[in-house]
Amino acid sequence: MRPTQSPFPATRLRRTRATPALRDLVRENTLTPGDLIWPVFVREGENIEEPVPSMPGVNRLSVDRAVEAAREADALGIPAICLFPYTSPENRTADCAEAWNPDNLSNRATRAIKSAVPGIAIMTDVALDPYSDTGHDGFVVDGRIVNDETVEALVRQALSQAEAGVDIIGPSDMMDGRIGAIRGALEMAGHHDVTLLSYAAKYASAFYGPFRDAVGASGALKGDKRTYQMDPANTDEALRCIERDLAEGADMIMVKPGMPYLDICRRAKDTFAAPTFAYQVSGEYAMLTAATQNGWIDGDRAMMESLMAFKRAGCDGVLTYFAPRVARTLAGN
Ligand code: PBG
Repeated sequence: MRPTQSPFPATRLRRTRATPALRDLVRENTLTPGDLIWPVFVREGENIEEPVPSMPGVNRLSVDRAVEAAREADALGIPAICLFPYTSPENRTADCAEAWNPDNLSNRATRAIKSAVPGIAIMTDVALDPYSDTGHDGFVVDGRIVNDETVEALVRQALSQAEAGVDIIGPSDMMDGRIGAIRGALEMAGHHDVTLLSYAAKYASAFYGPFRDAVGASGALKGDKRTYQMDPANTDEALRCIERDLAEGADMIMVKPGMPYLDICRRAKDTFAAPTFAYQVSGEYAMLTAATQNGWIDGDRAMMESLMAFKRAGCDGVLTYFAPRVARTLAGN
């Protein structure tokens, strides 16, 4: 129980806010570069940085530039980057075979970064949407997203990523049973130390719009993802998803989007005490950046405040497009 507080003036809560030194002493949460995972979009070509219009400041990088980005992240103390491929249209097919091609863009980027910057952890996304002609995360049969056939494909995709050398596999597809299937296949193949960061509580959200532009999936997507991603109205269901994924072999779990779902982060951490991450998604980045560009908010302060919110809500770390900017701000430049 909370001890009772003496009434005013014995208690003046402003005392511990009065100076920077006192504020430092009583600060309950901290944000460090070690809390950050940086999502990076990769594309074909060489020496290319192609701006994503709906995400000012974010670029699609050719593999050589992604290696430079990884080097920069490593130097800033950011422990992990997360790769998202912008797949060429000819590699988006009904069978999604490019997803497990050992030489696909994501796997080539993984190998290049691993050999140049061995210290940084590489995370990759498991889902079929960058490779499918429908823009969905799973196979579509007669207008329905089929679960079990999709899971088989996701296992192949995950194995090819593990072969390429990733440290963290992030299934973002929201099919049932995929964590157990991927974990079993990784163990069988001898990839005992590849970690799974499950997008366990992923909501069917309007905040993914700019991301779909960035990976070129917006045009293709027919319909929505509500038969697999969660209903924003639900909380208990998120806990069931997380419990299930941990039981199936997830090492870490994620809540996505971030800022509109801080209640889910807090409940997840309190309930399971597992490594918990949030994804500050593209739409959140776009909102903050647009308001900043209009001069309506102080961008740096809003960025730092938005990230501290995740720490306060119990997250161990955050995937954010702001990662290098945050790390530079924390370093004082
Ligand atoms: C795809 C995937 C999405 C995001 C990460 N992986 C989009 C979606 O589910 O449609 C969104 C990330 C963001 O908006 O920043 N499986």
